[in-house]
Amino acid sequence: MTGGSGFTFLEYPIHHDFSPEGKVPVMSSILTAKGICKYFPGVKALQNVDFELQAGEIHCLMGENGAGKSTLIKVLTGVEVSDAGEVCLERKKIAPSSPQQAQQLGISTVYQEVNLCLNLSVAENIFIGREPRKYCGIDWKEINRRSRVLLANMNLDIDVTQPLGRYSVAIQQMVAIARALDISAKVLILDEPTSSLDATEVNKLFEVMQKLKQQGLGIIFVTHFIEQVYAVSDRITILRNGELVGVYDTAALPRVQLIAKMMGKAFDGFEASIKKTAAGSEAEEHAGFLAVRGLGCRGSISPFDLEVNNGEVLGIVGLLGSGRTELARIIFGIDRADSGEVLIKGQKVKLVCPADAIRHGLAYCPENRKTEGIIDTLSVRENIILALQAKRGWGKYIPRKKQEEIANKYVNLLRIKTAGLEQLVGNLSGGNQQKVILARWLITMPSLLILDEPTRGIDVGTKAEIQKLIRALAAEGMAVIFISSELDESIRCCDRMAVLRDRSKIAELSGQEIEEQVIMQTIAGV
Ligand SMILES: Nc1ncnc2c1ncn2[C@@H]1O[C@H](COP(=O)(O)OP(=O)(O)OP(=O)(O)O)[C@@H](O)[C@H]1O
Ligand SMILES: [Mg+2]
Repeated sequence: MTGGSGFTFLEYPIHHDFSPEGKVPVMSSILTAKGICKYFPGVKALQNVDFELQAGEIHCLMGENGAGKSTLIKVLTGVEVSDAGEVCLERKKIAPSSPQQAQQLGISTVYQEVNLCLNLSVAENIFIGREPRKYCGIDWKEINRRSRVLLANMNLDIDVTQPLGRYSVAIQQMVAIARALDISAKVLILDEPTSSLDATEVNKLFEVMQKLKQQGLGIIFVTHFIEQVYAVSDRITILRNGELVGVYDTAALPRVQLIAKMMGKAFDGFEASIKKTAAGSEAEEHAGFLAVRGLGCRGSISPFDLEVNNGEVLGIVGLLGSGRTELARIIFGIDRADSGEVLIKGQKVKLVCPADAIRHGLAYCPENRKTEGIIDTLSVRENIILALQAKRGWGKYIPRKKQEEIANKYVNLLRIKTAGLEQLVGNLSGGNQQKVILARWLITMPSLLILDEPTRGIDVGTKAEIQKLIRALAAEGMAVIFISSELDESIRCCDRMAVLRDRSKIAELSGQEIEEQVIMQTIAGV
């Protein structure tokens, strides 16, 4: 089927010229795109964009949500056909009409959302569609063996015969990358692969990327994490509103300039613009909204106590897999608790399902927008209005005009880039879909808003806007539980923090303790 050669990526036959020492690859263009145009109804997603990738480089593709990054990648990989322009691989014109064809040519992609089958085994996922055969059947032993070797090269030691769904998103992501690596030997494209990885895993991925770069692979890397761009890339191509802004050597482009070029305006740093209420003094005056006593669920999260007051942002920090999402889900009634109790404004309540929670003024914006949030086939307006309509009851239909008014307000407030309110959400860029979910829960004006990774996949400028918005909501008296893997973001937004480790709440931090060193030491248990 594909050109999957069965080599592990360490054994790849690399087709580039190497210097006499055989170590440093000689830079040469491997993939070029010229004059690419791509139009969707009402949207100029790409206008006359040029792009060039060299062998042996890590090249970041940067731009705000909806700038055209994913679309360019889709054109390069045959997911979308461009309306104009041409793509060359090793100076030969190519026009892949499907990702499979692109893969045969040597271009592999790992997308923002992992597109694998969670019910199949890890090994099956790596070899699906290109299984090695023996006599008259599939050679399972060989599939498992080769999968183990591949993952070992990424320092990942997991049971490859287990269903992929048993593992964390981070590991699923690594498996997707292993699959891509085994198929392609020339170009690897990573579209926001790190958005759900923790720091250790990101480093692991970077090591793998560096290794591949040394071997002469060209890597295109899309990320919204500025630190990562500087940690790993050689060059940066910036897009804005579907147009090429420029190509820069990473080392020669100061961060502020990068951001300014992405946004098309000067960027004056947002740390200063986010003010917490004076040392939580106002928050102290506010009454406690939610109190949780000994709430827990065997196998998911150990019993914990937690209080959230009106007017404060409570952060939940801890490593990936420490139980942050589990904590949110159990409070919101998605997962059933097997111990403990919940009090709202001092009254014992039973939150056995999300509908109960919503009735009591809670809202939960989940981290996984693809499986838990966005409904692709509904419009932006319908997606935004959904939770509010559910809260009011389906019998009390919100008039169309009112819906449009509300939706419009939040499209503007969160700068959701869409051709219109009736655009299908499935057609929005990843970051803009995330904003739609956020809008959905914000408009319900809950008393307690639980945000699980609300800024994942969102560009720097909008991230700052969202952080400001969260502070403003708290200042108006809303209680917020804020879950984020980005420590500096949590530090900026939160008045107090609960620290989780190994699915237990181990500490609470406030005031002066909300500081990077202290948090890290607490998480690490130093
Ligand atoms: N199938 C489609 N139909 C209509 N519009 C589309 C479609 N795919 C993309 N677009 C639009 O094209 C523009 C570019 O989207 P793209 O997904 O390339 O952005 P992006 O730079 O990857 O953003 P993000 O950082 O949010 O992932 C957006 O305005 C998006 O709404
Ligand atoms: Mg994208």
